[in-house]
Amino acid sequence: MVLSDIISTEPATGAVLWQGQTGDADAAVASAREAWPKWAALPVTKRIEAVRRYANRIRSQSEQLAELISRETGKPIWESRTEVEAVVKKIDISVNAYAERTSQRQLTSQPNMRAALRHKPHGVLAVLGPYNFPAHLPNGHIVPALIAGNAVVFKPSEKTPAVGQFLIDTFEKAGLPDGVINILHGGPDVGKQLTANDGIDGLLFTGSAQTGVALNRQFSSRPDKILALEMGGNNPIVVWDTDDIHSAAVLVVQSAFLTAGQRCSAASRLIVKDELYDRVVKEVKRIADRLIIDEPFSNPAPFMGPVIDNPVADGLTESFLALMSHGGRPIKHMARPIDDRPFLTPGIIDVTAMEERPDIELFGPILQIIRVAEFEEAISEANNTRYGLSAALIGGSATQYDQFWSNSRAGIVNWNKMTVGASSEAPFGGIGLSGNHRPSAYYAADYCAYPVVSMEADQTRASIGIGLKDEDKSKTELET
Ligand code: NAD
Ligand code: SIN
Repeated sequence: MVLSDIISTEPATGAVLWQGQTGDADAAVASAREAWPKWAALPVTKRIEAVRRYANRIRSQSEQLAELISRETGKPIWESRTEVEAVVKKIDISVNAYAERTSQRQLTSQPNMRAALRHKPHGVLAVLGPYNFPAHLPNGHIVPALIAGNAVVFKPSEKTPAVGQFLIDTFEKAGLPDGVINILHGGPDVGKQLTANDGIDGLLFTGSAQTGVALNRQFSSRPDKILALEMGGNNPIVVWDTDDIHSAAVLVVQSAFLTAGQRCSAASRLIVKDELYDRVVKEVKRIADRLIIDEPFSNPAPFMGPVIDNPVADGLTESFLALMSHGGRPIKHMARPIDDRPFLTPGIIDVTAMEERPDIELFGPILQIIRVAEFEEAISEANNTRYGLSAALIGGSATQYDQFWSNSRAGIVNWNKMTVGASSEAPFGGIGLSGNHRPSAYYAADYCAYPVVSMEADQTRASIGIGLKDEDKSKTELET
């Protein structure tokens, strides 16, 4: 009897959801290598047709997929439905992005010559996914990769294998040729086998900075492989002059605690003007106290569910205590309402007095508050991180927003909007430890294909008009 070595349990209930076997990275890459030349040789319209069939199937099973996402991640069902919607919308967005950014076009045309720009797929691309958006984020790499003509080996997070399997089963049912898309289950060790396999032509990664940096090191001697890294954040939200304290607090709470704080673009640091501090912090706490934290399908609908598992919840609880023991002043304690389940209530802590604030991503519902007197100080606090994914200014004047926009070191800079909820129709990526300048979402098209420029003439006709000696006819005759 073969025992399952990957077991996915529902964070909210502890029930076993899915069991399966660790995959064989070499076999998955070999299968993709065999399939990709034929896939790449198809007209792009045929590849688009195939991904549209996949989208239609996802659409027709959207409630089933949303339920699976909620059970496997613990996020509320209303939120999983928005994730499924993003999966379906990705197809049109990717078709447009392919056409706009990486299709073919004629550059110049002269009487006997034309120059053309075309794009080619890399070959076999590995995709490593995270657990917080187990469908939307891998899908955001896979769909553009397939449209461009790559074959794919997808390793979902070992924490969300069931959703990964659902996506790949759907591609197969949609009639993608064998081997064009391959699933590989397993944890970091299997990820390492996949990324070390010389048969891949590139890696599209979404996950933590810690893993991304290790992968960057691993690929440093392989400039021949495309490497796209989408990593975490330690994102600031600045609250400045505003008459609407309630709305400011709502934007802070949404930015910090949606998806139980498990978004790469979540706000983890609230930087607030001295004079507004009491009112803003009181209102943020008041709203946070009212948030419903419950199982995904419960009624009334929860704002947020649990974090992904007990070890992650333990780590976040310890981090909150560590902030306290290093000088942080708790505004709202982080609690664990059920001992053996990873539900956490939002934790809010003032870290202004801390001498050294740790610049790490706390991937969960923890909001750190820093009080400042001057706007310049707020900007400098916002940039006081090695990460650079998202940043938001709430309130302030148009001139202050211009200053914030110009000086912020982040790939997403918003005004009077949340730090989260980025549009798939725009590029998505950050600087510093948040990415390697290969943004995803709309710009995923860019890393799924490489440009080839060709000068082309229908006939072989050439002459040298300058720099030639007169021809020595007698010699030429003797030689010939
Ligand atoms: P993670 O880095 O632990 O794992 C991501 C994937 O990499 C998983 O499939 C994992 O099995 C694999 N992996 C881990 N170590 C590996 C190694 N050494 N070699 C090869 N593969 C390895 O990330 P996670 O905890 O699953 O996801 C949460 C993280 O993802 C957070 O840091 C979050 O900010 C980030 N994230 C970033 C974005 C973005 O677009 N920038 C979006 C969502 C999540
Ligand atoms: C994420 O990908 O983790 C968050 C996306 C967003 O809400 O901006």
